[in-house]
Amino acid sequence: MSNYHIKHLEEYWQVYRKSVRHPEHFWEEVAEEHFLWRKRWNKVLEWDFNTPIVKWYDGAQLNITENCLDRHLTTRGNKTAILFEPNDPNEPAQHITYTQLHERVCKFANVLKSQGVQKGDRVCIYLPMIPELTVALLACARIGAVHSVIFAGFSATAIASRINDCDCKLVICSDGSYRGKKTIDLKSLVDKALENCDVDTVLVVNRTGNDVQMKEGRDQWIAPLLESASADCPVEIMEAEDPLFILYTSGSTGKPKGMLHTTAGYMVYTAYTFKNVFQYRENDVYWCTADIGWITGHSYIVYGPLCNGATSVMFEGVPSYPDYGRFWNIVEKHKVTQFYTAPTAIRALAKEKIEFTSQYDLSSLKVLGTVGEPINEEAWHWYNENIGKKKSPIADTWFQTETGGIMISPIPYSTPTIPTFATLPLPGVQLALMDDNREEIKGNQVEGKLCIKFPWPSMARTIYGDHNRYRETYFSAYDNMYFTGDGALRDAVGYYRITGRVDDVIIVSGHNLGTAPIEDAINEHPAVAESAIVGYPHDVKGNALYGYITLKETGEKRNQDNLYKEINDMITSRIGPIAKLDLIQFTEGLPKTRSGKIMRRILRKIAHQESDQLGDISTLINPEVVESLIKGSLIK
Ligand code: WT7
Repeated sequence: MSNYHIKHLEEYWQVYRKSVRHPEHFWEEVAEEHFLWRKRWNKVLEWDFNTPIVKWYDGAQLNITENCLDRHLTTRGNKTAILFEPNDPNEPAQHITYTQLHERVCKFANVLKSQGVQKGDRVCIYLPMIPELTVALLACARIGAVHSVIFAGFSATAIASRINDCDCKLVICSDGSYRGKKTIDLKSLVDKALENCDVDTVLVVNRTGNDVQMKEGRDQWIAPLLESASADCPVEIMEAEDPLFILYTSGSTGKPKGMLHTTAGYMVYTAYTFKNVFQYRENDVYWCTADIGWITGHSYIVYGPLCNGATSVMFEGVPSYPDYGRFWNIVEKHKVTQFYTAPTAIRALAKEKIEFTSQYDLSSLKVLGTVGEPINEEAWHWYNENIGKKKSPIADTWFQTETGGIMISPIPYSTPTIPTFATLPLPGVQLALMDDNREEIKGNQVEGKLCIKFPWPSMARTIYGDHNRYRETYFSAYDNMYFTGDGALRDAVGYYRITGRVDDVIIVSGHNLGTAPIEDAINEHPAVAESAIVGYPHDVKGNALYGYITLKETGEKRNQDNLYKEINDMITSRIGPIAKLDLIQFTEGLPKTRSGKIMRRILRKIAHQESDQLGDISTLINPEVVESLIKGSLIK
């Protein structure tokens, strides 16, 4: 029996049990089976969740790009590694073979070296979904530089804070990006961000040809540098626990957390889970629609697929351009076999005329996936019936930026699926549900806070520059447990269903938004005294943002329509358009406890139209405010 590719439910249970009984032995076998190591490990695992410290495959040496590229050259040199589908359907797709990708990565890596980038240096990447993004990640990894990808929809403020947080000296960006009909100027956002940063070098990829300003001595077009670069770039030999990348995720308080992922464990886990969750076979064409700016893209567009020698589709555009059939047009055109997307995209497409979907031949599909937020039953059925034709199992995959790879998911064709259930933990994943007394809840048909009680190879090792915050956020709530921040229930047969965040993070269209930074942005408006954001159910976005705002008593009565726009403009410039408020309720006050903490539970109930279920409000210092909030509520 091979641990590496599970093919039926009994086999899943056998592998799962083994992985729990002897985790180290299990992960040792997986690592032996498939990868290219320059030196073998001395010890599979060392850990302590109190410090916390976690080391996988300590003593091993490797380079992840040798696993993603070099080792495929003899057997799969002419196979397509990246299948690039441009925004404009009339622009030809690009089939970039393993040999070509290898060459492009080597050249790019040599350019980085020539700009003084060394092992351990941080490089920020602000690129749209074009092949250079994948090339840039791998080029960093090849020379041991730590990449930090900043999603190319983030504002100048967000770029600056990420650049400064990791003290990065070199930025890779493009002139602009295409999104549907729009051309977005990215370089000017970088220019604005860099007014507040200490960055020596900016390398600019040419994509849209829009006018950009190049700052003398700092900015360079990358094309001529690539042209003259050598295609020979020996890999930097990395230690198992050397950092591979930083990726920021929103926190419930304060600034975004730079999750740091390391090399060997991340590689083993993403490769292993890719193969099993997508039941990947040699000639499949796999497509994940996520942006590489999120963990899903890192793990399941770039590293997991390439480590398996797969063909991974990269799509530059949006699902609605040139019309709502674009996804299915691409599936038909490239005969996609695995399709992995977010519930928010499914809901958006399900709202449109069915002809957008039904006119395409989707018979190549074998496995469907979703990720990012709970998938509601209606969307699940629409996906199952119209896309999978009830033949392709849906893998509802649960994971987090922090976990690096998928933790809970059915194994397609093995695990029977049920709508809204992510079902079972993958091998090596030991879950626990905790009650309010911080005790583990055993047995089935129970609900609690979702924790993980044993390390897994791809877990983030720290928050960059703030190990204390890492411990506080994930390891202090429960003894000897990693706390996910999510609630979950376990049904009668042991299947898990994720019920959502238990802290102040709201998932809007699959994007994890911290309420605190949004509130900070709103509070900067001169007319605003105080604000609190909650989520409320939205049929396309999953959740949308509802803001309760109290105004300063400046005497002057402002036009609330203007304020609505000004506040949303403020949010757009500080965080990005994704964080805009759909509803704003101006109020005289916010419900507060004695210690001054806003009682969000009440605000959430009102926004969810459940004001008849407010529960105990006796600890409020201003209970009278609740009545006026209900009266003024915006959702009817
Ligand atoms: C949070 C992590 C990892 C993918 C992109 C999001 C929610 C993720 C599911 C799912 C229910 C899900 C959780 C999690 N989430 N997948 N299948 N069912 N909820 O990464 O930004 O780090 O967000 O997304 O609440 O904690 P992220």
